[in-house]
Amino acid sequence: MTDAELRVATDTDAELRVATDTEFELRVATDTEFELRVATDTDVDAIRRLEGLSPSTRRLLRKDLARDDRRCLVASTRPGRVVGYAAALVALDEAHVLDLVVDPAARRRGVGRRLLEALLEAVAPQAPDGVTLEVRRSNAAALALYRQRGFVIEGQRPGYYPDGEDALLLWRRPRPDTED
Ligand SMILES: CC(C)(COP(=O)(O)OP(=O)(O)OC[C@H]1O[C@@H](n2cnc3c(N)ncnc32)[C@H](O)[C@@H]1OP(=O)(O)O)[C@@H](O)C(=O)NCCC(=O)NCCS
Repeated sequence: MTDAELRVATDTDAELRVATDTEFELRVATDTEFELRVATDTDVDAIRRLEGLSPSTRRLLRKDLARDDRRCLVASTRPGRVVGYAAALVALDEAHVLDLVVDPAARRRGVGRRLLEALLEAVAPQAPDGVTLEVRRSNAAALALYRQRGFVIEGQRPGYYPDGEDALLLWRRPRPDTED
């Protein structure tokens, strides 16, 4: 690990370590059944399946994982089955959450929350202006999770999704300086 690493203890006693370079490292030592780590080439098929994408997307996904401006994490069970994926794009001092998905069989066990927290830590050094994302207006589960983690609704994009549903535009802004 580098000197630039950041250490965060979460409420689940997980220890998160994120190096602040673009080549970031992330490891979570936890007493729970899941571990979080940076997504690699070997995760491509598992991620593709989680997202319901066809095999033809493999090459594109592999390219995305390798991009300098992406932060991509997976959650896996101890024997190594990938059950969650989170990805963000960092650019112009902001981050955009592109994906957050948990295997339906592993939902409501804190995987999504931990993935999101780790992703926020991973993008923080390159996103001093905040983190944004779009979410379907009807996606109550994701909205509850994002709001819990400090995101607020700042706008909407009418008809944003292919089926015509609106997207809500959420931001998590840095806290204003509290010094007088
Ligand atoms: C949204 C999603 C990632 C949540 O993952 P998860 O692992 O089930 O979430 P967690 O167990 O960590 O739950 C964290 C919080 O999210 C909220 N939440 C999660 N599922 C919820 C549900 N079905 N209904 C209401 N709130 C829910 C709750 O606030 C929960 O906190 P709590 O357990 O203290 O009540 C998951 O439902 C998913 O993959 N959905 C499909 C993909 C998707 O919609 N992604 C978001 C795209 S923007």
